[in-house]
Amino acid sequence: MPAAPSSDVPLFDDRALADPYPLYAQLRETGPAVYLTRYGVWAIPRHREAEAILHTPDTYGSEGGVALTEPANTRILAGTVLASDAEQHIRLRRVLSAQLAPRTMRRLVAVVTARAERLVEEHVADGGFDAAALARHMVCDTVMELMGLPEETRAYLLTGAAATFDVFGPDNERYQRALPVASRMVAFLHEAVTRDTVAPESWMGAIFQAVDDGRIEEKDAIPLASAYTAASMDTTILGITEAIAQLARHPQQFAWIRQDPTCATPAFHEALRLEAPIQGFGRMVTETADVDDTRLEAGEQVWLLYGSAGRDRLAWGPDADVFNVRRRRADRHLAFGGGPHLCAGIPLAELQARAVLRALAAQCTNLTTAGEPDRVLNNLLRGWERMPLAVKRASATPAMRAQADHP
Ligand code: HEM
Repeated sequence: MPAAPSSDVPLFDDRALADPYPLYAQLRETGPAVYLTRYGVWAIPRHREAEAILHTPDTYGSEGGVALTEPANTRILAGTVLASDAEQHIRLRRVLSAQLAPRTMRRLVAVVTARAERLVEEHVADGGFDAAALARHMVCDTVMELMGLPEETRAYLLTGAAATFDVFGPDNERYQRALPVASRMVAFLHEAVTRDTVAPESWMGAIFQAVDDGRIEEKDAIPLASAYTAASMDTTILGITEAIAQLARHPQQFAWIRQDPTCATPAFHEALRLEAPIQGFGRMVTETADVDDTRLEAGEQVWLLYGSAGRDRLAWGPDADVFNVRRRRADRHLAFGGGPHLCAGIPLAELQARAVLRALAAQCTNLTTAGEPDRVLNNLLRGWERMPLAVKRASATPAMRAQADHP
């Protein structure tokens, strides 16, 4: 076999986190599996191989391999749906699936749509708004209600979730700062999420019901609850903010959504392809495997670069770096992962994004950038902390049109 390709790119330094794309291009050019000497892990930077690995869970396991450090894999992630394999994974995932299935989501359409219309109206009222604040408001209101946790836990959960994503990364300064916060979040969930505190008809209530029915064990309840708290908020907030920001930079494409609101979901997927909110996740190699010409041994780890896969010209063509709402099948991206661990929350993420983008398109004629945004810097998450935009309001808001239609 030829010598294995390797690279010493500082993938998790602040500069790289702010703009990883030149490094991703370098890695894709180097090979389909590139050994990252700084982190002791194989980067998988191209779409095709990353997708194939996601669909080969018997060779590339999640248990003990999702994060880059041992404390994160054993202390923070142990027992979670994300970091379990085979039968245990199926058992845990089944509890979440019922709550997140498309048919359950359909029951939420009216309330989520009404929330989006109201929040957009409030946020754009003065002609300028922060897209990240709008997305945060929308997602936190929706998810807190679904989770069934007391309102006072909201701020704590948001801080803890961002720290959890930092902890997935290598042992750098960011990781060191986040590890105690993420550990406290786990302890906090054990205290705050109990049969007495959660609403019965809620995601958390359904977890305790599954314990009581004998479908999962008591010890599985809190790790399973952490899947909701960590996975459902930042990801969707960043994805929706990015989609709005891209539409502000591409007025013609915002006009298309105004003409045809069915473009809203493709716009969301295109934003996720271009700027994956979770840039990468790991897997543990459980038996000798070849990625193209490169041999990987059991016990080694791969790092699936979802953010790089979305820019891979071999998969997306020469305009891979361009935002295009009309791109064919943009939803093939890997920003939601793939295979058995494919994001369980896609219908909910889509529902919220569609509602916000449609409400913006209905209520605003123009959307433009208005000042310098602030970036989130996190070992895993990518997106905007603050995204100031300006709008021109449409003369008739949806509420006004509804009144006109049904006087
Ligand atoms: C734009 C929004 C979102 C993005 C980009 C996203 C991304 C992802 C990714 C990449 C994975 C796969 C992890 C892997 O490779 O192992 C994942 C898994 C997961 N996501 Fe999402 N997610 C989003 C929204 C949500 C929402 C709203 C929920 C709702 C609870 C959710 C719940 C989950 C769960 C439970 C898993 C674990 C699935 C498993 O291991 O079987 N996600 N997500």
